[in-house]
Amino acid sequence: MATPSSSSITSLLLAAFLVAAVGIAPHGAEGGASSAVVGLVTGVVPCSAGSSINVASVPAFPNATVQLRCGGRAVAGATADSSGAFAMNLGALTPATLMPLLNNKCSVVVTTPLAACDASLAGVAGTLMAPVQLLGDTGGGLGGLIGGIVGVVGQILSGVLGNIISIVPSAFSVV
Ligand SMILES: *[C@@H]1O[C@H](CO)[C@@H](O)[C@H](O)[C@H]1NC(C)=O
Repeated sequence: MATPSSSSITSLLLAAFLVAAVGIAPHGAEGGASSAVVGLVTGVVPCSAGSSINVASVPAFPNATVQLRCGGRAVAGATADSSGAFAMNLGALTPATLMPLLNNKCSVVVTTPLAACDASLAGVAGTLMAPVQLLGDTGGGLGGLIGGIVGVVGQILSGVLGNIISIVPSAFSVV
């Protein structure tokens, strides 16, 4: 298991790496604001109540309103399309926006009641949400942690080329 301190150090290293990556991002046109690395959270909202919902096996939630909340605070929002797909632009990533993502403090929260996609779900208490884990499940110990870091660094590197880091939430659950 990763200790809190090693996880914090990892987060700091990654935040430092991202800042460095932004600095070296290739740009012909005088750099400036255009060299920012942008975070994009994408996913599909399911119309279902339950835990760890497999979005492929249930109807989608068209037009659902979603928010990215980090430490309880809404940091971005979007409305899903008619097939439940959403994309939330986090804007230019900074250490301040990256740290809660790295520390697993962010979730995608659906603010539209489930009854909007299925009237039979009107009685469901709770909120549909999905955790965002940039480093994935680090429960696999150091190996899992390193695997997660490699994945994120790979994303950051490929993200630098396109200037976008794609962030995908885990499965939705009603909590
Ligand atoms: C979703 O929104 C679009 C555009 O506002 C609307 O045309 C469509 O009927 C909505 N779909 C549902 C299922 O509410």
